[in-house]
Amino acid sequence: MNIKKLNIANQKPKVYEKGDSVMWTDKHVSKQLLGFHLNPEIDAASRTPDSINNTIEFILKCCNKSQMNILDLGCGPGIYSEKLTAKGHNVIGVDFSENSISYAKAQAIKKSLKIDYVCKDYLELDYESQFDLVILIYTDFGVLLPSERKILLENVFKSLKPNGTFIFDVLNDRNIKQKFIEQKTWSFENNGFWKPKPYLELTNGFNYSKEKVFLKQHTIIDETERIMNYRFWTHYFSTNDIVEILTANKFVNTKHFENILPATDIWNGENVTFYKTERNE
Ligand SMILES: C[S@@+](CC[C@H](N)C(=O)[O-])C[C@H]1O[C@@H](n2cnc3c(N)ncnc32)[C@H](O)[C@@H]1O
Repeated sequence: MNIKKLNIANQKPKVYEKGDSVMWTDKHVSKQLLGFHLNPEIDAASRTPDSINNTIEFILKCCNKSQMNILDLGCGPGIYSEKLTAKGHNVIGVDFSENSISYAKAQAIKKSLKIDYVCKDYLELDYESQFDLVILIYTDFGVLLPSERKILLENVFKSLKPNGTFIFDVLNDRNIKQKFIEQKTWSFENNGFWKPKPYLELTNGFNYSKEKVFLKQHTIIDETERIMNYRFWTHYFSTNDIVEILTANKFVNTKHFENILPATDIWNGENVTFYKTERNE
């Protein structure tokens, strides 16, 4: 075992240094993730049914329009896309997980729902002035690095019709820093979340207070001694931070909404703030 390499992989990286592996599109991991999305007991990948229903109700109340053209970014297996379609809206769902998109497509056929699902990276969108509403749900806005966030906002702005609405949720900065704990853990699995064969997992949490971002890093070593590094950067924001970011990207009429979700864990309740903002022209 190359201990030197392992030691480097296990260190606190420079802020925003990317890992070498992507969880959502990995064949084995994306199968585990689909199971999480669809499990109503687990608040991972997708939220639990109470939170999802509150979110749908909030979105529809916020927009109060019939037959909207909606773009669901990072739609996963289509839980929100289906509910919005059932309410009479025209939905396009975009996700880069082939596994989630194939499942979503099969479900739409099974349930006779007309939903257009596209397997694509949402940083490479090419829609123009087409949507009344774009949504990005489950704190995915905060997962993007600042350079990616800028690309996403440009893409969303371009895809919206003039005065169209963008709704997303983020972790707010009120209490979250104390809840993100810097700690090191390890586990050994024979067939687990990351691989269908034996592996060692080293998990680290790192806080970067200046940038208001927390890193959860998973270092996976399998029997071939290959080392894989998965890094999840999660930002937390004040309302001023978000207004500043949106204003710099030409969005207007930004409003924030608190306590939309039941208080179940750190990804719900008072920790999550929803934002509604509009394309200005
Ligand atoms: C936390 S899940 C949320 C899924 C869904 N919005 C929900 O709440 O049920 C994030 C989703 O975004 C997708 N995703 C992440 N980055 C993406 C990207 N750059 N382009 C497209 N999809 C992406 C993942 O594959 C995953 O399905």
